[in-house]
Amino acid sequence: MSDRYAVIGHPVAHSQSPRIHAMFADQTGQELVYEARLAPLKGFADSVKAFVAEGGRGVNVTLPFKLQAYEIADVVSERARHARAANTLKFDSGQIYADNTDGVGLVRDIKTNLGIELEGKRVLLMGAGGAARGVLLPLLEAHPAILVIANRTVEKAMQLAHSNQHQPLAAQTVLSGVGYADLSRQQFDVVINATSSSLSDDLPPLPDGLFLPGALAYDMMYGKGLTSFLAYAQAHKAAKLADGLGMLVEQAAESFRIWRGIRPETKPVMLALRKT
Ligand code: ATR
Repeated sequence: MSDRYAVIGHPVAHSQSPRIHAMFADQTGQELVYEARLAPLKGFADSVKAFVAEGGRGVNVTLPFKLQAYEIADVVSERARHARAANTLKFDSGQIYADNTDGVGLVRDIKTNLGIELEGKRVLLMGAGGAARGVLLPLLEAHPAILVIANRTVEKAMQLAHSNQHQPLAAQTVLSGVGYADLSRQQFDVVINATSSSLSDDLPPLPDGLFLPGALAYDMMYGKGLTSFLAYAQAHKAAKLADGLGMLVEQAAESFRIWRGIRPETKPVMLALRKT
């Protein structure tokens, strides 16, 4: 019998993960099946238990359960602990192991797929919620010169920056938390939208002149075409625009590696998804 995996969320029908992992399995010759499972809003832990009882070997976890996925784990990775959230669970010897592959997915997409170096660069991270927290550690590991976290609720940005300022990883990076109004006269090489504003076609109040020559504007949202943030970036002369599809595929590849010990090729999968 094939090993079983799933993505658990609410809603989950829109998830591309079953398609992505089917392509990974095909490409690497791994025998597995991967399905989408809808968990009731108050029934995440029970859904995980039921899947384990059915022989499930691991799950991806999507909104709104990433925090709970972290909380039900017996063993957590450093990056999951840092994000206080997990998107990947592995079931082994009666234990639940939790990891968070979102940040690695983002950094790999920027560095490897888009070919943009982060080391020594000026980086702006917009948002201070779960999505921003999930990518902060891998961003710091990429050693930008400056990492500014900007958020509508300024205290949350300050708090997130403050709680990371003294860790060794941040030693090469000037890390700060600010409000959008504080961004005037600052310029960046890479601007990442980790807010949920694109969901409502909204846009954080960004000042003019944000993008340095050659700058990348990255929206972690995908499947929405030109989001309000990417349209803004295009109008304000950002040199490169990217949505979160590459991050989606890269975080999936890292989950696949955690489960199967083999890293699939991401490029053909990204191409296939872009076609539809
Ligand atoms: P997620 O897990 O997607 O990060 P979240 O924890 O609810 O969800 O955080 C949403 C983030 O998007 C927050 O940083 C939020 O700003 P506040 O902390 O001030 O609420 C940000 N956000 C949502 N809509 C926004 C908008 N229209 N403009 C600016 N920021 C927005």
